[in-house]
Amino acid sequence: MRFLLLFILTLSSYLMALPPGLHTAESKVPDFELPVLFPEGTSAAEWNDDLRAETLTLFEKEMFGRVPAISRKASAKLGKKVPDFLNRKAVLQEVVVSLVGTEEGPKLNLLIITPSSAKGPIPVFLGLNFKGNHTIHASKEITVGGKSQVARGERAGRWQVEKIIERGYGLVTAFYGDIDLDKNDGFKDGIHGAVESSDKRDGSSWGSIAAWVWGLSRGLDFLETYEPVDGSKVVVFGHSRLGKTSLWAGATDERFAGVISNNSGCGGAALSRRAFGETVGRINESFPHWFCKNFHAYGKREKELPFDQHQLVALMAPRPVYIASAQDDQWADPKGEFLSAKHADPVYRLLGKDGLDQEEMPKVDQPVGKKIRYHMRSGKHDVKAYDWDQYLRMMDELIR
Ligand code: GCU
Repeated sequence: MRFLLLFILTLSSYLMALPPGLHTAESKVPDFELPVLFPEGTSAAEWNDDLRAETLTLFEKEMFGRVPAISRKASAKLGKKVPDFLNRKAVLQEVVVSLVGTEEGPKLNLLIITPSSAKGPIPVFLGLNFKGNHTIHASKEITVGGKSQVARGERAGRWQVEKIIERGYGLVTAFYGDIDLDKNDGFKDGIHGAVESSDKRDGSSWGSIAAWVWGLSRGLDFLETYEPVDGSKVVVFGHSRLGKTSLWAGATDERFAGVISNNSGCGGAALSRRAFGETVGRINESFPHWFCKNFHAYGKREKELPFDQHQLVALMAPRPVYIASAQDDQWADPKGEFLSAKHADPVYRLLGKDGLDQEEMPKVDQPVGKKIRYHMRSGKHDVKAYDWDQYLRMMDELIR
């Protein structure tokens, strides 16, 4: 009896902790067919010359939105430098990128950490952070930015700075709100308002994810000019909503040498047609500003989407892409994330590369894949040392 009571209590507290409306029953996944990546008989040249661009345009028009023509050029200024950072193991350099080249416009505050031992330009991870640069490591040397009320190092577990530096790579990060604050403000603040008046917007105008992506590309522009970094070896990284962002960054900016999308879920790697966990309808209700307005029409009409997320993953080809899930992150649909990785594989093969090369979803904590890599970590929605170990291995094997 006591056991039964305990069981009921545990079950109900578990169910209460799940977001409302979450369904995680495989039996409720509707029957669906995925849109094809390319017609039979397509050649690599046809993909490269036309089909890739056509696929990209569909995502741009119906999901993330189009970036308007921005005539004003970004400009960068070197800020604080700490040559003996992390007990002399690393060099810290802060850089302010004025995104539209003016003092008043939005500014991207880049934090660049590179190993002191580097003999020449090195590969780096570039990723936006949720709470400010000072939250990725406890050091007092990092300038407080973003959410200044959040303690230094609060998010250190997600960044593994020492591990990255010891392996000989650099880390570049910036607060995502520097580009556009993550709120539904009618696209008045941040980069949207700075470059275009909100009454000019239409169904395919850019949302916040496209804005964060645009900011990442401006970060990359700077890194291409920054000597300690090898601009041809910048891997874009992101977690959760920023994992959706890293995929769109890799799709739109082929200068990124590789892409890591951690627990990205709906609107990221998870297939929309599975409607498992967070659905297109739910995401547009909760975060209408992330996507363009056209995307709002596909809530409960996933089958009418002219694409699915495996095609987004395929846009990374032939570059390395890592899709990572977490077992307890059912909201993000680990299986849907795996299936996207799997069904992107034919484009890699078309281009003469090994993609995922894996039919069945692997067991927990078993990384798989070649140029498309996948794992489902045990535990919750998060970025852990385990995830970084796999990303570092990808860097060693495919980027360095
Ligand atoms: C919410 C949202 C997800 C998103 C996540 C995050 O859970 O529903 O789509 O990925 O926030 O960014 O943390």
